[in-house]
Amino acid sequence: MVTTVAIAGSTGSIGVQTLEVVADTPEDYRVVALAAGSRLDDLIDQAERVRPEVVALADESRRNELSERLPAGIEILSGPSALADLATVADVTVNGVVGFAGLPVTLACLHAGKRLALANKESLIAAGPVVQRARRTPGAELVPVDSEHAALHQCLRANTNPARVARLQLTASGGPFRGRSSQELAKVTIEEALAHPTWSMGPKITVDSSTLMNKGLEVIEANELFGAPAGEAGAHIGFDQIDVVVHPQSIIHSMVTYADGSTIAQLSNPTMKLPIGYALAYPDRFPISYGGIDWSQAGRLDFEAPDRSAFPCLDLAYEAGRVGGTAPAWLSAANEVAVEGFLQGHVRWADIPIVIEETMAKYDGQDAENLDAVLTADLSARKYAEMVLSQR
Ligand SMILES: NC(=O)c1ccc[n+]([C@@H]2O[C@H](COP(=O)([O-])OP(=O)(O)OC[C@H]3O[C@@H](n4cnc5c(N)ncnc54)[C@H](OP(=O)(O)O)[C@@H]3O)[C@@H](O)[C@H]2O)c1
Repeated sequence: MVTTVAIAGSTGSIGVQTLEVVADTPEDYRVVALAAGSRLDDLIDQAERVRPEVVALADESRRNELSERLPAGIEILSGPSALADLATVADVTVNGVVGFAGLPVTLACLHAGKRLALANKESLIAAGPVVQRARRTPGAELVPVDSEHAALHQCLRANTNPARVARLQLTASGGPFRGRSSQELAKVTIEEALAHPTWSMGPKITVDSSTLMNKGLEVIEANELFGAPAGEAGAHIGFDQIDVVVHPQSIIHSMVTYADGSTIAQLSNPTMKLPIGYALAYPDRFPISYGGIDWSQAGRLDFEAPDRSAFPCLDLAYEAGRVGGTAPAWLSAANEVAVEGFLQGHVRWADIPIVIEETMAKYDGQDAENLDAVLTADLSARKYAEMVLSQR
């Protein structure tokens, strides 16, 4: 039986790689829906190749142009709810939207009782309790695409007793600035921040990797996915049991240590196609090998502790995660504003943690009990972050 796939964020790095993965197994998977933010030419090119049933564009103003240029017979959705509507049409939705804009896709897919292949970590981080409730919808299933969480998901399958999970170790490449001092980091450029040593990704996550905020967001993501009490993989762990270890080769994608001292790791050469295929095929295995290691050529695996003083974003994320409520939503929104400000050339790279810290100082301690609370938190944090940004 063919599994149908919707791709939200099809024009981005995750979206394009998902299309390639599906194209490798046309007998098993078929893309029936594509959605993008604004890159119309790329979206139309994809639609001509894949011939989906539905195409969605967040940018409402270009709907007419889209309908004139799309091949006949494809349904068009546009505007603010378009991506959420698209997330209910397929067996699996891959959420490759970047940032808080991915939240409607996450919620719509889970509420529809479908499988969500989640790359968009920001939705889970900003709206953790709301997403946890949506995950309880009958039929709903969240399989992580983020490589570290896909690795943990696999390592946790080695276990049947949640009480025996002792620690989760998230690996981090360390990004392009590993080993640099705070003084050296004061002068880094946009081009340097975008030159990731092991992964080719969209600009926002690439900058997040350079500040270690990506790893901080992943710590919160791991707690949401696998921590007590909600974790479906059943680990009885919290922030105190989630570690970050720098591993520059990006071969080990994360590890789980059990009570008996065993550590189970997942290894491959760095490629997002493996976790994308894993999330499509789970609980089966994807039939094609991506990133398989040639052990006769394998080199060394190095590990070191992260430099928490040169990269303060990591601890800002731990702190927000431990506070809970809407603090992670504030953190993620402030980070989005700060990173965009850096990419636009308004602030320096070193200002990113300062904008976040000053925004978090205004955090109002609200709970994330429903979607309205999360939307309000996101707006408030953006407002403060933009104010801080404009003063720098
Ligand atoms: N790339 C990776 O290897 C990787 C690895 C792990 C996790 N992730 C996560 O996956 C997500 C996507 O990352 P990426 O690197 O693929 O980003 P990207 O290359 O920048 O692509 C982002 C996608 O989101 C769409 N988009 C942006 N704003 C939107 C909006 N307001 N409404 C609807 N769609 C919107 C973009 O559409 P347009 O370009 O057409 O505007 C594009 O298709 C992020 O959450 C990231 O943290 C990525």
